[in-house]
Amino acid sequence: MPIISFPASGLELQADLDDNLLKVLRRHKVPIHYSCKQGECGSCKCVLERGEVLMQDYKDTALPETQRAQGVILACCSRIKGDVQLRLVDSDDYIVHPERHLVTEVIGLRELAPEVFGLRLKIRYVDRDGEPFIFSAGQYAQLSVGTADGSFIARDFSMASTPVDAEYDDELEFHIRRTPTGAFSGLLGRGIEVGGTIFVDGPMGSSHFRPRHEGPLYAVSAGTGLAPMLSIVKTALHNGKLDRVTLYAGFKSAGEVYGREDLVALAREFRNFRAHIVVESGAGAQDRVGRVGDALLADVTDFSEAKIYLAGSPAMVEAVSAAMLERGLPPGDVHADAFYAPKPARTAAATVCSDPMDVATGQVPSRHGI
Ligand SMILES: Cc1cc2nc3c(=O)[nH]c(=O)nc-3n(C[C@H](O)[C@H](O)[C@H](O)COP(=O)(O)OP(=O)(O)OC[C@H]3O[C@@H](n4cnc5c(N)ncnc54)[C@H](O)[C@@H]3O)c2cc1C
Ligand code: FES
Repeated sequence: MPIISFPASGLELQADLDDNLLKVLRRHKVPIHYSCKQGECGSCKCVLERGEVLMQDYKDTALPETQRAQGVILACCSRIKGDVQLRLVDSDDYIVHPERHLVTEVIGLRELAPEVFGLRLKIRYVDRDGEPFIFSAGQYAQLSVGTADGSFIARDFSMASTPVDAEYDDELEFHIRRTPTGAFSGLLGRGIEVGGTIFVDGPMGSSHFRPRHEGPLYAVSAGTGLAPMLSIVKTALHNGKLDRVTLYAGFKSAGEVYGREDLVALAREFRNFRAHIVVESGAGAQDRVGRVGDALLADVTDFSEAKIYLAGSPAMVEAVSAAMLERGLPPGDVHADAFYAPKPARTAAATVCSDPMDVATGQVPSRHGI
């Protein structure tokens, strides 16, 4: 059996040949950052110090060739081919909760805005008796629903509920944009109904609220990215340690705005909270017009000591992340979940990723077909 070792901590894990590296690390609660699980966001980088993995296709922006040549790999795209020695990148403030498999019942399905649904689930069964489902604000879970032909459709959705709010005891809430052709979201109200069963695996993701941070907190959302940002903002406010918590909630049009009442109520309750609703077109008198990331950059010039949380469309998340890094914010202070759509099933597109010793001998593996 291949061994995955971490010389820095002395940790050694057993894996099966061809196991997905990220899955093994998650199974053993190793604190590795990750978000998309499909080679798009670049957050699951780690350094392969020795050994070999089979790297499946990924985006160049997630792992530039220069980093790859230095032995950096993406855990979510790596299949284990033998013993490997790894070094994790910046995982010190990452909280790992045990992953659970839940059976839940749909207890609420309400339209928050046209084609945006609040899905409320009651946890009916947790795979390990007596142990609650624990997550950090900002994390997501994989929701699966059975279809008529006996198969399951699974998609990732971020918790809009908070771990601190007693209102959500044994319940989880999600905000889901319905696209008529969407395999999962297209079933909302058309198969996924109150009383139905949804399987939930999680929690997942490392873009969660960092409770030890004490500087300004900026949360930026696009569309249903508001779900995890609301969870983070509410948790931060209840945590009570921060002087300034600011949320920028972006929407494509005035008709898509939702959550206004929640934000107004929070601003009334917490004097250190500000919310800006930013609408790309057709804004109401009280809303700002333009792109949500531009609104943040127009308001704030000094991001020192700040943490930025981002969620929603890949275009917004990638643009604001890049702007933050340009302004000198350390990558460890930008926590982002881009809502990438799942990739179609891939087949044989894979390349061998060798360790840095092979790179030194000039055998840098090249990337083949996506
Ligand atoms: C970490 C993470 C967290 C997320 N959190 C949320 C969340 O909180 N809320 C939320 O709404 N979403 C969230 N998402 C996105 C979500 O997981 C799904 O990707 C999204 O809902 C689309 O799934 P679907 O089943 O509706 O559509 P899919 O069937 O997966 O289709 C995806 C998109 O492609 C289009 N499409 C489908 N088939 C075709 C085709 N043949 N040709 C062209 N286009 C096609 C669909 O219209 C749809 O827009 C998150 C994603 C990630 C990675
Ligand atoms: S690239 Fe691996 S989690 Fe996104």
